[in-house]
Amino acid sequence: KSIPKAELHLHLEGSVTPAIFGALSRKYDTDYAVLNEEKIQAQLFNYRDFYDFLNTYRIVCEHLREPLDYLMVFDWLESYFAEQNIRYAEIIYTPSILWRAGKDGREVLVALLKQSNKLNDQGITIRWILDCVRQFGAQWAWRTAELAAEFSKQGVVAIGLGGDEKSLSMGEYQEVFAWVRDHQLHAHVHAGEISDAQQVWEALQVLGANRIGHGIQAAWDPNLTDYLCQHAIGLDVCLTSNARTGAWPTISDNPFDLLHRKGIPVTLNTDDPGLFQVSLNEEFQKAAV
Ligand code: HPA
Ligand code: ZN
Repeated sequence: KSIPKAELHLHLEGSVTPAIFGALSRKYDTDYAVLNEEKIQAQLFNYRDFYDFLNTYRIVCEHLREPLDYLMVFDWLESYFAEQNIRYAEIIYTPSILWRAGKDGREVLVALLKQSNKLNDQGITIRWILDCVRQFGAQWAWRTAELAAEFSKQGVVAIGLGGDEKSLSMGEYQEVFAWVRDHQLHAHVHAGEISDAQQVWEALQVLGANRIGHGIQAAWDPNLTDYLCQHAIGLDVCLTSNARTGAWPTISDNPFDLLHRKGIPVTLNTDDPGLFQVSLNEEFQKAAV
């Protein structure tokens, strides 16, 4: 707790805790309003596999409908940053989830930037990654890229590509990511989480990724680990997330240590602290064992 930390892989939508989910389900009187926090935790925030996790993620996102909902989550993150001694964070926000539901993803971003820029005074720097979802397609990615470019001087540093890496090919997003890189934004790509090392190669070669979300499957490919090392491409490793989704079921043999010893810039992250009920300090403890 005494170590000042950075967290580079943290989804805003994944920061919905059982308590926040309970409040939102009562606010919107959804089918889940009958569940108390323990039941939310046991029944909904408990995953058979990665796809079951994505399904819960979708349900949680259906409960985020207006700026106030997102600000409630950001408020929770503010206390999380203080408690975890986090001084720098890159938060991943996905506007296309709102757009696809006919809602305004831009006004949510404006509200979030206003709130996050206030933390500067407390010595906490927040930057934003606007995520595109792999299974949604290029149309939404273009809209996300344009929004990122509009706010690139106000705290948005990158666009990302999350979601199901076994769905659409990286090629679908090649032009969007080229455009984004021309606009001095970075490219953050989830790859090599549940799919193989080839996905990491494509993230680098097709999308020009500067940093990889997860990337643990790179451990199987020595040419790739050499490349990541030589080009100082960071991997955001998320030990508990990998265990909870089944991407890498046992924390004690997660390749974090191997990748670190090879000289790749690896970082520890929670991915979704609300949905996995885990903190960054706990991730450090788990890595230290
Ligand atoms: N992988 C893919 N999509 C996601 C994740 C993840 O770990 N977390 C939130 N959306
Ligand atoms: Zn993620």
